[in-house]
Amino acid sequence: MPQHKISAIKAREIIDCRGTPTVQVDVWVDGVLRGRADVPSGRSTGSYEAYELRDGGTRYGGFGVQKAVANVNAIIADALTGKDVTEQRSIDRDMVALDGTPNKSHLGANAILGVSLAVARAAAATLDLPLYRYLNSEAHVLPVPMMNLINGGKLSSNDLCFQEFIMMPVGAASFSEALRMTAEINAILRPMTAERYGKLAINVGDEGGVVPPIVDVREALDLLCEAVARSGYAEHIVYAFDCAATHLYDKATSRYSFEGRSLTRDEVIRFFEKLVSEYPIVSIEDPLQEDDFEGFAEITRALRGIQIIGDDLFVTNKDRLAQGLVSNSANSVLWKVNQIGTLTEAMETATMAFRNGYGVCVSERSGETEDPMIADLVVALNGGQIKTGAPVRSERTAKYNRLLQIEEELGSAATYAGRAFRRPV
Ligand code: PGA
Ligand code: ZN
Repeated sequence: MPQHKISAIKAREIIDCRGTPTVQVDVWVDGVLRGRADVPSGRSTGSYEAYELRDGGTRYGGFGVQKAVANVNAIIADALTGKDVTEQRSIDRDMVALDGTPNKSHLGANAILGVSLAVARAAAATLDLPLYRYLNSEAHVLPVPMMNLINGGKLSSNDLCFQEFIMMPVGAASFSEALRMTAEINAILRPMTAERYGKLAINVGDEGGVVPPIVDVREALDLLCEAVARSGYAEHIVYAFDCAATHLYDKATSRYSFEGRSLTRDEVIRFFEKLVSEYPIVSIEDPLQEDDFEGFAEITRALRGIQIIGDDLFVTNKDRLAQGLVSNSANSVLWKVNQIGTLTEAMETATMAFRNGYGVCVSERSGETEDPMIADLVVALNGGQIKTGAPVRSERTAKYNRLLQIEEELGSAATYAGRAFRRPV
């Protein structure tokens, strides 16, 4: 007999931070509402991600999720009602089987993920545990926040080729100190940017960073470095990018568009070799396009000691990671639960990464809600690093603020990942 039975599952359509519909799911246990979770959504997506089911038609410009909601309320709820809410693996496996497609295109990964996450939360609440503790009794690592303070690419209104210019306060003594440093640096960066590039430059991009009209990568880095220097925290800060190079790549010519110039793969690798020799850069995400496992192996070798993260390359998918492990492509995985569609599968990908010496960087999507779930997940994984935007806009700060609560709850058991962000335990 199950001890804590799922008595109802109910989904609804809500909107995310861009005003685009997404799925929210409630899970009831023994007649009590115990867990609620929202599904995030990307804009700069990889081709191999699980399928996000949208309604089409004219309502919400075709982006409605009423079909996904109906799939939860009818098909998934029917199948899972009566199951023990703590049986996460079996619940996720059942949904994968019920869907029956390799990319969850029948029920929609957004339908399945909403249930998967709400079940985890409901189980934790039923057992009276914080989510990170329910998922891992050894959870204790607070992540380095990878703060995307300058936005470019698909997440902005400027012509900067790279999507995210990130600073990492690895030298802080704690997560709360790291957060304070970044908020202080952002407060210096904003007026500096306005002074140099005009007031429109400090409108914010999808992840809360400023959007100066810059094309040259070094110019953006210099701006960031100067704000850091003025803050007095320079010795504690290192830098990272998300290049999202899939979106800079032209399949027809096999060339990349960097800073308005057309580069071959080899030229891209040389570009980064030079850049990392000039700046304290420690991490580069998607420097090459999503199909180039061989190129990722080459750049990982060439930039020895630098974290190379596969986002569009791996899409949090175990099979794609396995392919990367064979060829030594990249050395870290970007971890986005909605790329794969269940918590169990995402956890398996993280385990596979850690076991093989790869890092795991937990990440927001550009389309988020106020749900702070990934804060608990990064601590549950002892992941050591989280990308969740600038320290502004509530859908971003919700995650940072939840991490502050977790740090307080853990007290002296908390360890800040700091410079060991890629291998924190
Ligand atoms: P996305 O962007 O959520 O729009 O995919 C973030 C990223 O590429 O890391
Ligand atoms: Zn990315």
